[in-house]
Amino acid sequence: MSARDFSTLVSARRATRAFLSDPVPTGWIDDIIDLANRAPSAGNTQGWDFLVLDTPESVATFWDTSLPVERRSHFPWPELLAAPVLVIPICRPQSWVERYAEGDKAKTGLGRSAEDWSVPYWWIDTAFAAMTIQLAAQDRNLGTLFFGLFERERTILDRFSVPTDRRALGAIAIGHPAPQQRRSSSTLRRRRSAAETTHRNAWSLRRRRFGRNRRRCCIGDRERIDP
Ligand SMILES: Cc1cc2nc3c(=O)[nH]c(=O)nc-3n(C[C@H](O)[C@H](O)[C@H](O)COP(=O)(O)O)c2cc1C
Repeated sequence: MSARDFSTLVSARRATRAFLSDPVPTGWIDDIIDLANRAPSAGNTQGWDFLVLDTPESVATFWDTSLPVERRSHFPWPELLAAPVLVIPICRPQSWVERYAEGDKAKTGLGRSAEDWSVPYWWIDTAFAAMTIQLAAQDRNLGTLFFGLFERERTILDRFSVPTDRRALGAIAIGHPAPQQRRSSSTLRRRRSAAETTHRNAWSLRRRRFGRNRRRCCIGDRERIDP
């Protein structure tokens, strides 16, 4: 894949909140999860799992638990419920703790308790895998929506017999996008540019130096963003 192909793939992925109920071809979700398992993880821990709901019954059970029928009339994205597949990325924090208790990592001191981790890598690594799922689905022209489970996380996990030491990051709806997509208020927010998010060599340097480099920098978006 060329850099241009990759840019096209990344740019084409948008939150899909309206799906057709057409099934995802057999084997595609397995292939997508194989790719997710290629995501980097700290110490190569790979302490993630993916709960795949791909039958009408299990998808219905998910929605009955996360969005009871009596709340559906107010739900702004009814066609989200048509997605034929839901993938729930799950992490087991203790897997990272155990990995970091192994000989080659013990000196980090992170092998004692999850509380010792200033940045819990289980969320980061499993989020990398979840992002891979979204891009791999996009590569097959499928739509995806990552959404939160909030206070229903444990109730949903219990419904599918997920062990209590596991945490769910959220859920990823996957399927063929409906032709008409309404954008949410979040999605309508302007995408920040590289000029805004890049702090080259130091946090304040970019802005302080901007005046001096202005002529060189004031091209395209940068001119509008940093006049
Ligand atoms: C961690 C996370 C949680 C999200 N939760 C929701 C959600 O609960 N409901 C929803 O409609 N979209 C949710 N989204 C989708 C975002 O609103 C969407 O990705 C964002 O507006 C950018 O739009 P884009 O994905 O089309 O680029 C979530 C996205 C992320 C990364």
